[in-house]
Amino acid sequence: MYAFAPDRSLPKPELYRELTESARALVAGESDGVANMANLSALIWQYVDWLNWAGFYRVIADELVLGPFQGRAACIRIPLGKGVCGAAAASGMTQLVPDVHAFPGHIACDAASRSELVVPVIRQDRVIAVIDLDSPEPARFDAEDAAGMELLAKAIAAAI
Ligand code: SME
Repeated sequence: MYAFAPDRSLPKPELYRELTESARALVAGESDGVANMANLSALIWQYVDWLNWAGFYRVIADELVLGPFQGRAACIRIPLGKGVCGAAAASGMTQLVPDVHAFPGHIACDAASRSELVVPVIRQDRVIAVIDLDSPEPARFDAEDAAGMELLAKAIAAAI
């Protein structure tokens, strides 16, 4: 059993540092990427509040394919460059979207989503996956969330 007990009221930089340390502990010694992504999705869900979706899309050939996640069933395949996830994967840049309805080409997997944060996971200079967070709150994510999730993405890149 894993007894992670996040204090969601911590200042964001600290919360994400703790999330990242917990994530390192969780994947340590496990080489199965699917198992690690499944556990990491659950961990993000526990640590980060006001989410309606949290999970992975993996870069396979020229598309993103749904990976382990928490939340409602979602689109399975997204072409690179399409939607918020495709933009993050194609550019290798974090996408911080305060209003998904204002993002050209946003793909609505869950109609409840209002804002979104997508960070690329980079291994050996290649985007291998993205971590996608959706929130029902407009402008839920800020630069501290983006920096925190980038820290996490770096820490787990070798384990997924
Ligand atoms: N909204 C995303 C699609 C994935 S779901 O939100 C889970 C996008 O525009 O890429």
